[in-house]
Order: sequence, then structure tokens, then C-alpha cells
Amino acid sequence: MSITVVLLSAAVIFKLASDARQNKQQLIILHDMDRSILSGLSHRGVMNAVVDKLMSLLKVDAAAILTMNKYYGFKEIFSNNLGSNFRKNIKLEDNGFFTSVIANRKPLIISKISKDEDEGFIGTIRNEGFMAYMSTPIIAKGGIPTGVLMLYSRKPRNYTKQELNLIEAINSRIGMVLDRAWLIERIQEINFESVRALVGAIELRDPYTIGHSIQVADLSLLIGRELEFSERNLNLIEFAGLLHDIGKIVVPEAILQKNGKLTKEEWKIIKMHAIHSAKIIEPVANLKTVRTWVLYHHEKWDGSGYPEGRKAEQIPLQSRILAVCDAYSAMTGNRPYRNALSEEEARDEITRVAGKQLDPNIVDIFLSLSTTGSRIKKNSRRDKKIVDIN
Ligand SMILES: [Fe+2]
Ligand SMILES: [Fe+2]
Repeated sequence: MSITVVLLSAAVIFKLASDARQNKQQLIILHDMDRSILSGLSHRGVMNAVVDKLMSLLKVDAAAILTMNKYYGFKEIFSNNLGSNFRKNIKLEDNGFFTSVIANRKPLIISKISKDEDEGFIGTIRNEGFMAYMSTPIIAKGGIPTGVLMLYSRKPRNYTKQELNLIEAINSRIGMVLDRAWLIERIQEINFESVRALVGAIELRDPYTIGHSIQVADLSLLIGRELEFSERNLNLIEFAGLLHDIGKIVVPEAILQKNGKLTKEEWKIIKMHAIHSAKIIEPVANLKTVRTWVLYHHEKWDGSGYPEGRKAEQIPLQSRILAVCDAYSAMTGNRPYRNALSEEEARDEITRVAGKQLDPNIVDIFLSLSTTGSRIKKNSRRDKKIVDIN
């Protein structure tokens, strides 16, 4: 056997071994992705992990995944090794590339960016020190594009068929993850919409309280934001606001709408609504914590509230938030026995009872929120839920 044949055989064996190693690595990354998808990791968690793994597996210098909303506009970006200015440029300037990749449903590969290229997005990429760029569309179920995957290299770079196949396999998984995230968002919206409809129907029984629960939900959400609640806790406090008086469904309309003074017995029935609200929520597994917040929304800072007469920090923080918003909403709404207080009168009254009936810290936050109606508008999560308390 000649030396050349031996060397060639060695090269072939080396290549086969290296391909096998690469295949194994690729199978591992796909398996890891499947595992994190199945484990219920949030789409953000999966995206960040994918971006990191793509970089090490394909030996590129930076990677990003851009996701789109249903109007094909920019939604989120997950990236590794890209400067914040460059990330901003991707959002603003990448549209030409973005749309062409989406429209053609095919990868766009620029294996070597020429030195004199300094215009548009390609110029931005080059100025960032990258010499090669590739982007490929992420397609969800039903062929709907949901994002773009982008890879950047500091040296000229091409992609082998095997690498492109791997990227395609990863993309189909990313599509699945984005599909799931979209579904979860919709379910969440449907939940809010259903709860709003339900609460609206209940409030119709007492014309004086129409819109009250939505207002309490909105204001509680704003205070939750000020306290930097997590997204999950913001959702929960919003649910708590919507549901806090749902127990009034068991209070007879004759009592709810009574014009004259309520008897002791009638007050007793009305006060039961906090317990009933909690009982109604109890079977909903996702709202376990909300049940407690709702139960104590009529407790007072000085211990004079109901149902248990809890004091100060014995009352859950979220119940204290609900109490402030509930008081404000009740004061500024008409009642059969009195007219609505003005914004100023309500603020004065809330200030007066801070430290007695209401948590003084929450009152401070509330008053700082309501100094300008525009602040509240700006912070409001959904346009239709805007509460203008000017
Ligand atoms: Fe209540
Ligand atoms: Fe209420």
C-alpha cells in the first residue's frame, strides 16, 4: 500500500470520526431542546438556551432570535454576544432583511461581507466587526412565520448542508416553542375576558357598582407595578381585583339595592361576601393565593375590619392593596344613599384614614400614582381598561 493511500484512508477515517462526533453533538442539542420544551420551561428560557448552544455548536461569534407579533412586527429579541446598540439596530434597521427572509421562506447567507460595504444593515453588521451573516425564518404550525434566527461570524463563513439541516431542525423546534407561548398568551387573555364578562354580569345586579371590580383590578395592577411584582403576581393581583366582590352573587338584590339604612342582619349578610368570594375561587387551582387576598380585602390596618379582624402585616400585602383601591373606587362612585366624592375629596379621605383603616405605605404609593391621570393612563396594561382618575 502506497503512503498516499494510507494518508487518504487516515483522512477519510478522521473525517468520518469528526462527522460522527458532530452528529452526536447535534443529536444532543436537539434532545436537550426537546427536553426543555417538554419540561414546560418558559419560551424565554428555551430561546436563551438555544442561542447559547447554537453559538458553541456552529462556532459562530454571535447569535440572535427575533420573534414577531401577529402583525409581523418586532416582538422580542434573544441574543448572545451582541452589544445593546447593535440589538437596537437589529430591531430598527433589519426590516429589509427580515421581510425578505420571511417572504422567501429561505435562509439568507452572506458568507463574506466586502470591506467597502458600509450602508444599511449590512454596513451595521460590518461596523460591528462581523464578516459573515446568515438568517433563516422560523416557521410555526400552519406555515406561519413567527421569527428569524440570525448568526454572525467575525471571519468569512459558509454553511455546510449538514449545518443547514441542523439549523432547520432547531428552527422547527423554536417554532413549536413560540406556538406554545402564543397559545398560553391567548388562554390568559381568554381567561381575563371570561372573568371580566362574568364579573360584569354580576355587577349588573347592582347598578351602583358597575365597573367597580375592573377599576379595582386596574388600580391594584398599577400599585403592583410600583412594587415591582413579577409578571405572574401582576396577573394574580389583577384577577384578585376582578374577583374580590364576586361573593356578592349570594347577597339578595333587595339588600344590594336598598335605599334606606341597612339593618344589623342585612350588614351581616353583606359582610359575608368576602368569605363567599374566597369560596367561589377556591376550586380554581391557579388562583389559590388569590383566594386568601380576596378573603381579607375588608380587613383594616387597625384590626377593625372583617372577617377576622386581622391587623397591619397580619393582612396579606395584596389584600391591603385591594383595600386601598376598593376604598377609592367606592368613594368616587355613586351610592343610593350619597353622591360620588370628587377626586380631591376621595384623596383627602384616603389620606385621613391612612394608618387607621388603610396601610399607610400603600396609601403613599396610591397617592403618588394618582397625582396625574396621565401617569395612570401610561401605565395601564390594556387600553380598554384605562382608569382616568383626574
Ligand atoms: Fe368587598
Ligand atoms: Fe369592592
